[in-house]
Amino acid sequence: MSKHLSPEEILALREKYLLPGTSTYYEKPLHIVKGEMQFVFDHTGKRYLDAFGAVVTISAGHCHPDILKRTMAQSEQLQHITSLYLTEPVVRAAEKLATIAKDANPKMQKCFFTNSGTEANELMGILAKAYTKSHEFVALYHSFHGRTLFSMGLTGQSTWRHSMPYSYGAKLVPSAYCYQCPLKLEYPTCGVACADQVEDAVKYSTAGKIAAYIAEPIQGNGGVIDPPKEYFPKVYDIVKKYGGLYVSDEVQTGFGRTGGKWFGIEQWGVKPDIITMAKGLGNGAPAGGVVTTSEVAEPMRQLSHFSTYGGNPVTTTQVLATIETIEARGYKENAATVGGYLKEKLVQLKVKHPLVGDVRGKGLMLGVEFVKSRESREPAAKETARVMEACKERGVLVGKGAQAGNVIRIKPPLCVTKDDADTVIDALDGAIREAAK
Ligand SMILES: Cc1ncc(COP(=O)(O)O)c(C=O)c1O
Repeated sequence: MSKHLSPEEILALREKYLLPGTSTYYEKPLHIVKGEMQFVFDHTGKRYLDAFGAVVTISAGHCHPDILKRTMAQSEQLQHITSLYLTEPVVRAAEKLATIAKDANPKMQKCFFTNSGTEANELMGILAKAYTKSHEFVALYHSFHGRTLFSMGLTGQSTWRHSMPYSYGAKLVPSAYCYQCPLKLEYPTCGVACADQVEDAVKYSTAGKIAAYIAEPIQGNGGVIDPPKEYFPKVYDIVKKYGGLYVSDEVQTGFGRTGGKWFGIEQWGVKPDIITMAKGLGNGAPAGGVVTTSEVAEPMRQLSHFSTYGGNPVTTTQVLATIETIEARGYKENAATVGGYLKEKLVQLKVKHPLVGDVRGKGLMLGVEFVKSRESREPAAKETARVMEACKERGVLVGKGAQAGNVIRIKPPLCVTKDDADTVIDALDGAIREAAK
């Protein structure tokens, strides 16, 4: 007999004791009891390839031994004391983070650790207001930036904006979603007209200057929306013209996920003023953070800021160990190699299956959009849910995204191999065939 609770028992306890609204994947939710690099195991011992990386949090690998041994040693030494006292792990992690962030912008220097990505985006709002003395922000349709009232205001999906209006000052503009172009244009003849919407938003719906523009380099939750190469450079110039800071939300795209680079925005060659992060930063530890330039950070000297748990010794030990492991094991390069291979194979699936409308993304941040027909491009949400279920039956966990719920998200731990990529493709191939019936 299993020593674990059954999924039904856990569901009953969740219903009794957890807030309603905490949803689960799958008709019969999985009870996961163990993680080992790119794999997880359910309560019966069945192994799954985790091709969603626990919602993109597992960068190096589940319970990666190189990381775990350092975190466990720190846990035995000192778990918590707060930043009112001096500790070494937080400055070591900040030093490393500032160093790798210089690849995105050589002026990056100052860090603050939070407990989540939402909190990192809240702090970003405080920093941008303090530095620019402006209070309005531009963000994108399809974006996801968190679940507090400010970050909900920046988020461009009605599903996640349920508690509006409480925050003020966020203007949302169409994102560079070429497959379902909000302006009904075609790339490249469109001249990336969606970027001009940022300028229109500043001119016509703000006081004419902004604190910041925030975007995920590739929109994750919104459905792996991967803008063309001209989009962010064009937006950057507009943001600077109106005195704003450029913020890259790298909660999903950071730490090698997009292949070959530490941060997703490096793929577009734009130099952000602020990077916000979480998920892959901690490889499963509740870590978030902000990195910025000394100039942008300076006004904070006049304002007190504090987080009880942000920057604690255990989490920052795991942060440093995660970055060093990704570096030492060549995982961001692996993301480029295996991700490139996987994308090629996904494109072959598109040729085979009319249900597949689009394949997009970079490195190991890939998405497959399902449509009822290639002509109408109407979202095929039910079929997407069936693909997910059928992948699970084949031992592969994938994620789902987009407001319409019609994009499969493939974002495994960065330690995956080409054999794992083949496993994902075989599972998807069979699952799509089944879903199309
Ligand atoms: C791009 C992005 N930003 C912010 C967040 C919020 O992060 P957290 O869930 O750690 O608060 C998420 C979470 O999914 C995200 O995907």
